[in-house]
Amino acid sequence: MQISTTPLSTTVFSAIILFTVIVSCSTNNSKDDNKEDINHVRALEGEELIVRGKYLVAGVGCGDCHSPKNFTDKGPMEDQSKFLSGHPSTIPLGKVDASALKPGNFMHFAPDLTAFVGPWGVSFASNLTPDSATGIGAWTGDVFIKTIRTGKHLGQDNGRPILPPMPWFNFAKFTDEDLKAIYSYLRTIPSVSNKVPAPISPDEAMKLAKK
Ligand code: HEC
Repeated sequence: MQISTTPLSTTVFSAIILFTVIVSCSTNNSKDDNKEDINHVRALEGEELIVRGKYLVAGVGCGDCHSPKNFTDKGPMEDQSKFLSGHPSTIPLGKVDASALKPGNFMHFAPDLTAFVGPWGVSFASNLTPDSATGIGAWTGDVFIKTIRTGKHLGQDNGRPILPPMPWFNFAKFTDEDLKAIYSYLRTIPSVSNKVPAPISPDEAMKLAKK
């Protein structure tokens, strides 16, 4: 017996056309409905960038390292009055545990998790507030994006590498728009004047080491 495939193909073909029409209609509708969607249907502007930046900074937890902490029964909590102002200059530097300078080791150097010691020496989380003398107030958006993308201090081609544990290589994967959003939000947080110490080289750190 010979079975003709023509009627079946015609039915399938018609079904595909009908499906395509339905899908394209519904897609058009949802596109109109989602005009304000944050999913990059259009570039974010002004206040929207700041809202997005706030969301990213909170979700990533930049403050885990960049905010001084208050100590509570539940552990360290970000000190909101010094939000993102970096390692507090008021904490006296202690002695370095020499074993932390050996490859494979790494430890916190400040009880509030804003300074770190490892084979790279001692690093201190920077002041990200808009204070122009001690924070990033004088930075342009381009400098900020280039810093995060290249992992070079101040985004300069010959700048020193940004030290661990700053995970710039993860943040480098953000889109330009998201980095711009983070930058825009950081411009709006309260300025805190706090001069963060320069990093300490491994040799210098060894001199501070416990005997
Ligand atoms: C795990 C800890 C940690 C986290 C989380 C972290 N940082 Fe950092 N960050 C550091 C440390 C430490 C430094 C200082 C590094 C140095 O001196 O080279 C730093 C430095 C920086 C700098 C200054 C770079 C320069 O040119 O010297 C910027 C800007 C920065 N961080 C932004 C951010 C932002 C924005 C976030 C969140 C999206 C973030 N950091 C999250 C630890 C961290």
